[in-house]
Amino acid sequence: MSPPVSILITGASSGLGAGLAQAYARPGTALFLSGRDAARLEAVAEACRALGAESHTSITDVTDAAAVARWVEASHQRQPLDLVIANAGISGGTFGGAESAEQTRAIFAVNVDGVVNTIMPAIALMREQGRGQVAIMSSLAAFRGFPGAPAYGASKAAVRLWGEGLRGLVADDGIRVSVICPGFVTTPMTAVNTFAMPFLMDVERAVEIITAGLARNRGRIAFPWPMHVLARMAGCLPSAWMDAIAQKMPKK
Ligand SMILES: NC(=O)c1ccc[n+]([C@@H]2O[C@H](COP(=O)([O-])OP(=O)(O)OC[C@H]3O[C@@H](n4cnc5c(N)ncnc54)[C@H](OP(=O)(O)O)[C@@H]3O)[C@@H](O)[C@H]2O)c1
Repeated sequence: MSPPVSILITGASSGLGAGLAQAYARPGTALFLSGRDAARLEAVAEACRALGAESHTSITDVTDAAAVARWVEASHQRQPLDLVIANAGISGGTFGGAESAEQTRAIFAVNVDGVVNTIMPAIALMREQGRGQVAIMSSLAAFRGFPGAPAYGASKAAVRLWGEGLRGLVADDGIRVSVICPGFVTTPMTAVNTFAMPFLMDVERAVEIITAGLARNRGRIAFPWPMHVLARMAGCLPSAWMDAIAQKMPKK
């Protein structure tokens, strides 16, 4: 499979999205990058241009379904999309207290609706062209609900299962679907965490693993492996055991 040359990434103004944009940036590549912070997004686009890529930016909130669809379609008109990465996401903890309905809905709106708003128009266009690849940013937090971040874990579980199901559904249309499940990665999102983050990884290494996994069309790109094993084990534990462990976990 030849490397993608037309790539759209949401949440490209920071962290993993910015790292992915720069990893794909090379002469002959067209990048379509979105985020909400114009200055940070433009800085990433400029870094991609310096690497030889054609970079287009759009200030688009992923919760605005119509705006996202317009942007995906306009990008595709410019250069038919090979790869769409629904990466934009927000996190939120409970700080040892409750999680408000407002925070819960805000997290679902960005992390679930935002992914659907990006992937649905992309799949419709890729179906017409009979090829393409989409990637959904989930998390290792998707394998078990934790009291420190119930809405975040639920949002990531929703898109993980959605992506895993979609993969088989659209395979016959020539569309490849991957779900990305990182552990802790050093980005502004994790910079606020005051607790120890096991197997914390830098963005560059995470991006290497993600791009290699996408090149191999892996259905689930979960890393680092020790955290993946722990997350899967946590998902299998009986509730009573998990209750005892959760009591001792740090408050996010
Ligand atoms: N870092 C980790 O340890 C980790 C682990 C597992 C999964 N993830 C996932 O990886 C993805 C990227 O996270 P990150 O760690 O790179 O965090 P980050 O540095 O905070 O980046 C988040 C990105 O999402 C964008 N974004 C947030 N809300 C948006 C909205 N409503 N509309 C459009 N863009 C929006 C942000 O744009 P602006 O800044 O311009 O608003 C930013 O570009 C997220 O889905 C996150 O859940 C991260």
